[in-house]
Amino acid sequence: MAKVFYNLPMKHMGEEESRVMHHVLSVEQFDSAQLEELFIEADQFRDQVADPEQRRDLASRYVGRQLCSLFYEPSTRTRLSFEKAAANFGMIPISTENAREFSSASKGETIEDTVKVLNEYGFDIIVLRHHETGATSQAASVSETPIINAGDGKGEHPTQALLDAHTIFRKFGRLDNLRVAIGGDLANGRTARSLAQLLSHYKGNHLSFVSIPELQIGEDIKVKLRESGTGFEETADMYDALRDADVVYWTRLQRERLENPDALPKGGFTIDALALEVLPQDAIIMHPLPRVDEIDPQVDSDPRAQYFPQAGNGLYVRMALIDQILN
Ligand code: NCD
Repeated sequence: MAKVFYNLPMKHMGEEESRVMHHVLSVEQFDSAQLEELFIEADQFRDQVADPEQRRDLASRYVGRQLCSLFYEPSTRTRLSFEKAAANFGMIPISTENAREFSSASKGETIEDTVKVLNEYGFDIIVLRHHETGATSQAASVSETPIINAGDGKGEHPTQALLDAHTIFRKFGRLDNLRVAIGGDLANGRTARSLAQLLSHYKGNHLSFVSIPELQIGEDIKVKLRESGTGFEETADMYDALRDADVVYWTRLQRERLENPDALPKGGFTIDALALEVLPQDAIIMHPLPRVDEIDPQVDSDPRAQYFPQAGNGLYVRMALIDQILN
């Protein structure tokens, strides 16, 4: 098995007691060999799930193991695809979907204490989404149970980037030498941040960040791009970026992370029939979803629209990730 996971010594333990644990916290943990292995496995699971006999075999693979999904923020795809992935292996998913309101967090409990308690219960994996940037790393620092970051505030969403990369790889057979237009709320969107970082691990990519100045991608990401020699530009001209794009990665305004979203200038960033006219025929349009109004539903029937299959890929990538953790 490839060493996919970040080795994180427990902060509260002495040197001799310190154990190595396996968490998935950031795309920075993955190199190209690990990613390729994950994609191969994801495609194998895709085939197995499609075959009734193999699907039955898969369902006994991790019987008796349990996955806890602890979500402090709303989710449809991430939570349900992780739980479905676990169920496909015969695992029992146990879930709290609005932990910000319904867990002891509402009484003032820290994420560290909550995770220490879940460690006592002996889950095999904890999938954690939290509204605070860095909360998943804090949780991992006190957790022997593997933690998977399912999105931490404005920080990262590594498993989304893995399924995004898988989607790109399935189309182009590579993750290098691509022109990628990443648009929307790049200041607050963690999926765009994770994908940009992941693409910077590959040679020859060129990223066009399409947004208004108020919502441009963070300086920390730009520093990483410069350090890795990944070309990028920032523009408010969507058409300019679409004209020669291989991949269009569009995202919504993260209203929940903005104090006054309605004060922002509007318009000019909707992928619609006109935008399709300038986009190359063999490009793909991606979106982590949910979309609000930044992609016109008219676009859905265009063969370049790949956001629904992209979401579907998440199931198999997450199965592969669970398998690598438990195997
Ligand atoms: C994303 C997220 O939670 O960051 N959703 C997802 O997991 N597909 C994107 C978003 O909410 O805009």
